[in-house]
Amino acid sequence: MKHLLNPLDFTVSELYSLLKLANDIEANPDKYAHACEGKKLATCFYEPSTRTRLSFEAAMLNLGGSVLGFSSADSSSAAKGESVSDTIRVISCYADICAIRHPKEGAALVASSHASIPVINAGDGGHQHPTQTLTDLLTIYSLKGRFDNLKVGLCGDLKFGRTVHSLIHALIRYPGVEFILISPEELRIPGYIREDVLDVNHIPYQEVERLEDAITDLDLLYMTRVQRERFFNEEDYIRMKDFYILDKAKMKLAPKDMLVLHPLPRVNEISTEVDDDPRAVYFKQARYGVYVRMALILTLLDIHID
Ligand code: CP
Repeated sequence: MKHLLNPLDFTVSELYSLLKLANDIEANPDKYAHACEGKKLATCFYEPSTRTRLSFEAAMLNLGGSVLGFSSADSSSAAKGESVSDTIRVISCYADICAIRHPKEGAALVASSHASIPVINAGDGGHQHPTQTLTDLLTIYSLKGRFDNLKVGLCGDLKFGRTVHSLIHALIRYPGVEFILISPEELRIPGYIREDVLDVNHIPYQEVERLEDAITDLDLLYMTRVQRERFFNEEDYIRMKDFYILDKAKMKLAPKDMLVLHPLPRVNEISTEVDDDPRAVYFKQARYGVYVRMALILTLLDIHID
């Protein structure tokens, strides 16, 4: 049985097959409308979510399957002290596949080791968010047509931003990728990514503070939210939260074919005046999240159409 815990759980070739499947699902939705009839997806979310949980649920419903689950720890027996390992053993009796989001790093790994069904990590603390990475990769693949030779700006909370960490892991597998890490000093990329991932693999990168300087020469700009829930101190959050605001004036400095991605939700880091810019693809990105999760469910359940 296969789980998805880390963006690298798929080889480059498996990932390519997954993205091709997602593209086919987008082009031919009717072909897949009954693919998961009789199958159930459990969504076990111990942390808030809009996109991830609902796109998983939409994905399973689009495939003709059913969904069950909980959307907060308070509405599950976690509130009575039940462990993740006990919960997943029970969920394994009720569902065929499970997506789990938990505030603790490693929770999905613990769940997978006690499950008898495929487990998908839907975000574990500040660690990884592999299905967001699959969404990001499908967006890049569909709109840019390649992963190699991209200059990628990652902007905002690079310290706690699990989507950024996962995306770096995924993109370093392609030749010619270069990163511009745009963050305030306090939210710089952690050492375990800088040294253990970028330096070890000889990936070119620069760390800068000013978005205006970096934006002029990028293929992709990946904006992130400063995450209030990851700060221990409200004062630090307030000081950092509006450090970057992407607006029309900054977009004028950017290349004509640069794409702006954001995992969402956004707060203030992208002005709504940017939303109509054709380079702003973050709402399209959210749509790609459904197709790629449909492809993921089919792949993990080993269901083949054709
Ligand atoms: N991108 C993302 O994970 O959004 P949600 O927190 O709404 O699921």
